[in-house]
Amino acid sequence: MTLKSALLASAIALTPMAAMAELTIGFSQIGSESGWRAAETTVTKQESERRGINLKFADAQQKQENQIKALRTFIAQGVDAILIAPVVATGWDEVLEEAKDSDIPVILLDRTVDAPDELYLTAVTSDLVHEGKVAGEWLATEMAGDDCRIVELQGTTGSSPAIDRKNGFEQGIAGHDNLEIVRSQTGDFTRSLGKTVMESFLKAEGGENICALYAHNDDMAVGAIQAIKEAGLAPGVDIKIVAIDAVPDAHLAIANGEMNATIELTPNMAGPALDALEAYLANGAVPPKWIQTESKLFTTADDNAAIYEVKKGLGY
Ligand code: AHR
Repeated sequence: MTLKSALLASAIALTPMAAMAELTIGFSQIGSESGWRAAETTVTKQESERRGINLKFADAQQKQENQIKALRTFIAQGVDAILIAPVVATGWDEVLEEAKDSDIPVILLDRTVDAPDELYLTAVTSDLVHEGKVAGEWLATEMAGDDCRIVELQGTTGSSPAIDRKNGFEQGIAGHDNLEIVRSQTGDFTRSLGKTVMESFLKAEGGENICALYAHNDDMAVGAIQAIKEAGLAPGVDIKIVAIDAVPDAHLAIANGEMNATIELTPNMAGPALDALEAYLANGAVPPKWIQTESKLFTTADDNAAIYEVKKGLGY
């Protein structure tokens, strides 16, 4: 298998098209806080177009209230189904019940909610706890028993990836007394806050006292890399960096020796979601409650320069 075909299969490969009468689907997207989010939006639009689906897109600008409004608008319009990437985990029961009462199936993309299972058709997500655990285990192996003071950039407060990736990382480093998280703060999944919060970590701790950064996404890691450089330190060397997403800029940073590892989150949540939806609408096939996407670890052992080029070429 060539590198390009492997990446196509694992990263943003488009799933086989199912024949279907034209559907109208509402998609409530969180916003565009990260490169990964922008890629997910692009793939969802492409997948819908390829299948002849009329996609109504609503950008919530990071606000749950905007997502709830968008869902109510979709319900009033009588869409065939709703896709939603929920910005936070709680507060969805009422609007999901409204969708259910209107017989509109809802599919969650990339994040989970704290709501009864019967209120949505399925959730297409990675194992968010596992991603954090892989990051923690990677760092534990990398440090090989050496003492390491870790700083953590969390994702959006109250979002399922921020909660689960934090828990997972703590599981990954559990039992390694040489590893200690000394600072942990939200960077809201954005590059700019990743930089600002890392600056405050460096100031508070002193750069020489920080051994590693764990960021809940690559964008925050890339922002932090800038802060580390401006502090006169070498990211990836003086401070080890592991994050999640495997967006092109993270592969480039690893290729340049400025970052050490990232865990891939495919932006193609829409492919499996629309496959499940089309089967459900066509013949009532009920999908599993959780359609899990893969999580693959990339390190300096991979050909990150080549992967960067391929992913860039795929329109990430
Ligand atoms: O929910 C997935 C997370 O949200 C991605 O890791 C992050 O980049 C995004 O903003």
